[in-house]
Amino acid sequence: MRVMGRAEAAGLGAGAGDCPTWARERVAAALAAIAPLAAAHTAAVRPRLERVLAAFAAERLGVQHFASVSGYGHGDQGRETLDRVFARVLQAEAAAVRVQFVSGTHAIAAALFGVLRPGDRLLSLTGRPYDTLEEVIGLRGSGSGSLAEFGITYDELPLTAEGLVDEERLAEALAAPTRMVLIQRSCGYSWRPSLPVATIGRLCERVKALQPGCLVFVDNCYGELVQELEPTAVGADLMAGSLIKNLGGTLAPGGGYVAGDAELVERACCRLTAPGIGSEGGSGFDLHRLLFQGLFLAPQMVAEALIGAELVARVFADLGYAVNPLPGAERSDGIQAVRLGNPEALKLVCRAFQAASPVGSYLDPVPAPMPGYASELVMAGGSFIDGSTSEFSADAPLREPFVLYAQGGTHHSHQVIALERALVDLAEAGLVAI
Ligand SMILES: Cc1ncc(COP(=O)(O)O)c(C=O)c1O
Repeated sequence: MRVMGRAEAAGLGAGAGDCPTWARERVAAALAAIAPLAAAHTAAVRPRLERVLAAFAAERLGVQHFASVSGYGHGDQGRETLDRVFARVLQAEAAAVRVQFVSGTHAIAAALFGVLRPGDRLLSLTGRPYDTLEEVIGLRGSGSGSLAEFGITYDELPLTAEGLVDEERLAEALAAPTRMVLIQRSCGYSWRPSLPVATIGRLCERVKALQPGCLVFVDNCYGELVQELEPTAVGADLMAGSLIKNLGGTLAPGGGYVAGDAELVERACCRLTAPGIGSEGGSGFDLHRLLFQGLFLAPQMVAEALIGAELVARVFADLGYAVNPLPGAERSDGIQAVRLGNPEALKLVCRAFQAASPVGSYLDPVPAPMPGYASELVMAGGSFIDGSTSEFSADAPLREPFVLYAQGGTHHSHQVIALERALVDLAEAGLVAI
């Protein structure tokens, strides 16, 4: 997710081919058990890909759109086409897709700062937002440059004990005038189900009925293309996400997007660039081909990642660990949480996944502080693009109850190899019975 943990060279990465038969058999059995789920994820590629192809065709994508205008980037047809294509795929009125967005956090921050004004109230409907947003809102850290410093008040509606939006208390939470509600679709680093798009749609309806002027913003990180509809198709006014997660298709080298109501997208762009420039400036540095091609691959990559997530869930559930979601449960994001319960098991699994990574297999992921995070993080992320979590990776904040969050993947055979390796290491440590 998120950010690359510190890693130290540790002579790992040898012997990927000599996995014992028992470990192979266990993962093979899990793979056989999830075969119907895998088939369903694969079948879902087609309608998503049709949408991407229809967007390319409607916007007459051609090779001329791969080059960028340098400098100010004014009148860049590649950038303008990219924005329109993403808007169509995301079922939104408008989108702004920029390599100048450093991350999902940055795109979300641009959306919040772009729209909210001093005296406005922001209300999170999904409890405490993702860790890196705490400093954006002003809940942690020095507060320098935060929404709080600019006089934006913040409240949150805690989730129910089951990790669901507390819809019974929604009216009470919205009793005060509220400019915007924040909905986090994905679980983040919390033990809760991701929010189905249909639920987001229902929340949008209820919010608008209670306060017609209140805007709905969705943190869409890890959610794109997982379900048939996106939040902006069911009433969300604005949403944001990262390109080194789902929509970049593992090719985008960085960047993020905002999408939704055209005026709100423009406001977010005014925060990213400057008032007066808005969405009309910013070079793509000749990276547009990778962004278009990544979008073309994204439906397939998301499906592979979801198959990998089912597999991780099945293998660890079979070992007796609590997993969230359960194999076969409805998914609205690509994250698979596994409650390992102790820091040693967490580090061990991360180490095994790192050793099975294509890049930096010899590195030993060690917990380390990260900008934007309160807890130390450990991350197995031997990806081609640094910090890319559309590639297979796993990470965890080093805090109770020591939950591992795995995500991404380009071909689920990679998860098979990584899981076999984790099983062997867990068995050697006496944490798994053979
Ligand atoms: C739900 C959610 N929102 C926001 C973010 C922040 O994204 P980024 O790491 O790209 O800043 C993450 C990161 O994992 C996330 O899981």
